[in-house]
Amino acid sequence: MSDIPRDTRLDSTLALFRDGYRFIERGRSRHRSDIFETRLLLQRTLCLSGAEAARLFYDAQRFQRRGAAPRRLRKTLFGLGGVQDLDGEAHRSRKAMFMSLMSPQGLRRASELAEHHWRQAIQRWTRRERVVLFDEVEELLCRVACEWTGIPLPEAEVRLRTRQLAAMVDGSGGIGPRQWRARMARRRAEAWLASLVRHVRSGERAAPEGSALEAVAEYLGPEGRPLSPRVAAVELLNLLRPIVAVARFVVFEALALHEHPRGRAQLLDANDDDADERFVQEVRRFYPFFPFVAARVREGFTWKGYTFPRGRRVLLDLYGTNHDPRVWERPSDFQPDRFRHWDGSAFSFIPQGGGDPATGHRCPGERLTIALMKVSLRMLTRAMRYDVPAQDLRMRFNRFPPEPASRFVMSNVVSVLDEAERRIAGGGERTMLGGLTADTHAPGH
Ligand code: HEM
Repeated sequence: MSDIPRDTRLDSTLALFRDGYRFIERGRSRHRSDIFETRLLLQRTLCLSGAEAARLFYDAQRFQRRGAAPRRLRKTLFGLGGVQDLDGEAHRSRKAMFMSLMSPQGLRRASELAEHHWRQAIQRWTRRERVVLFDEVEELLCRVACEWTGIPLPEAEVRLRTRQLAAMVDGSGGIGPRQWRARMARRRAEAWLASLVRHVRSGERAAPEGSALEAVAEYLGPEGRPLSPRVAAVELLNLLRPIVAVARFVVFEALALHEHPRGRAQLLDANDDDADERFVQEVRRFYPFFPFVAARVREGFTWKGYTFPRGRRVLLDLYGTNHDPRVWERPSDFQPDRFRHWDGSAFSFIPQGGGDPATGHRCPGERLTIALMKVSLRMLTRAMRYDVPAQDLRMRFNRFPPEPASRFVMSNVVSVLDEAERRIAGGGERTMLGGLTADTHAPGH
């Protein structure tokens, strides 16, 4: 038996805000250990990092999620009563509903919707002097999210709903006004969707057949009971909010294309789906998004001689695990080609959690995220040309979640869609747009 290395500071909350995504990584090198104990907001907390620790963290016999996430996150990012806070059979049943939406047809339809809205957006951007990519893609993905889930979105509400959905993610790690905005956005968005669910159940509104709206409104839990309208709203937000959050990854794609010319050249040279996938994976590995996930020890146990006491909060380092030099050679280099040799481990590459999404808490939307990022990447590289004027693209590593200060400004946007499609029609360069179709009409349900 040995003692878990422990920080000597009384409390490390300030260090967490100072070191941000590198907080656990720094503790790990200070203690030369994949596990150490610290105090955050005065609570004793075990910090875990690396693939082996991730495998332990995803053992649901040993850890539970109920009551693990800090209240400020539950009031903004997750909401109360949603799938993130469930364990055991209640979790498995609710999670199955999410997984059922991620069928190959579901993913294809999301890609088609995204492509349709990208095409329209590019045409609009060509008429503007400058475009703030982050704002534009959030709005574009809000449209995609609502259409994909079957949630009506009147044109007059697009801005409002985009702002609400984005604020819940942006403000979740903030303090002061950012946090308050996120809480208010959640309250309003929950009221909007709870009312929609009531209307669907009373028959005043129809949910499109096979849609997520229908699945959530009709879902029955293990005891055969429907979700309350408020919890149904929380689960609908668990679909809408993260789809809009993919905009952050799209901005990171644009940033990578701009700042890593070698990666860009490899992508354009290969011009195939595998190279697109490798680029997307490297963006998800390289850039910071969610720093950690939290759980609590279910019953006390011993692992590698270390004692985990019952009820202790545990944080798994997502960012640090994706940058662990024992797995990722030169982790601070942006190298999409490293994914040619990746072993596919469910625990060493965990930007959206680890383990099996069907049985554990890993993100159910990972393939959907990748699909949306691939469409965006093809659009950025093959459907348009643009300049990147001088701007402040720096990211603060202690902002949760981070973003380039300028939110990525583009100017002189030119659509090359016509050019690309003429070549495809002429049979010259069939792969110019990869999987994109020439259809400019909105795909139906
Ligand atoms: C922006 C890209 C995304 C990132 C970085 C991301 C990240 C994550 C992370 C880190 C978790 C927690 C894993 C854990 O607790 O072990 C998670 C869970 C979850 N994600 Fe995502 N996600 C993204 C996109 C999506 C999408 C597109 C959807 C669905 C449309 C989605 C739905 C969910 C849900 C419902 C959960 C809770 C799963 C559970 O508790 O069982 N996410 N995500």
